[in-house]
Amino acid sequence: MTSPGARADQTPDELTVVRDAIATLAHLPGALLPMLHAVQDRLGHVPEAAVPLLAEALNLSRAEVHGVLSYYHHFRSSPPGRHIVQVCRAEACQARGAEALWAQACERLGCADDRHGSTRADGAVTLLPVYCLGLCASSPAMAVDERVHGRVSAERFERLVASLPGLEG
Ligand code: FES
Repeated sequence: MTSPGARADQTPDELTVVRDAIATLAHLPGALLPMLHAVQDRLGHVPEAAVPLLAEALNLSRAEVHGVLSYYHHFRSSPPGRHIVQVCRAEACQARGAEALWAQACERLGCADDRHGSTRADGAVTLLPVYCLGLCASSPAMAVDERVHGRVSAERFERLVASLPGLEG
């Protein structure tokens, strides 16, 4: 499986990946979601070019495929940054400073305050909101390149981010 931080220009041909997902998963009931996951796992995102192929394979309209893509925040339509920082904005974390942590993350990482997440212009990092990382008892929580961290203070956030290549200082 490609790491979540993989860039599209390091991945196999996009349409080949989509066709592979269709060929191997079409037999499943409710195959659209498994296909979308398979494509994103390999490419780091679900390219626009996947939509007509998936729609045709599953006898769905393009609008239906788009609807599923936009409903689940997990799916990205463009390549992610080289690092992925997720900040939990669910209830338990909100009660313990998650919104301040989110604001700090937007400013420090140079990412837009967007509820769907955003990628810095230079592609160094993608900042995503998440809604529970399973660390509610140690909130506020965040994840850096899929490694989760609890009790994240402002200082700890800075240390975690500053340890990432491309995001020092
Ligand atoms: S609410 Fe943030 S980890 Fe569960």
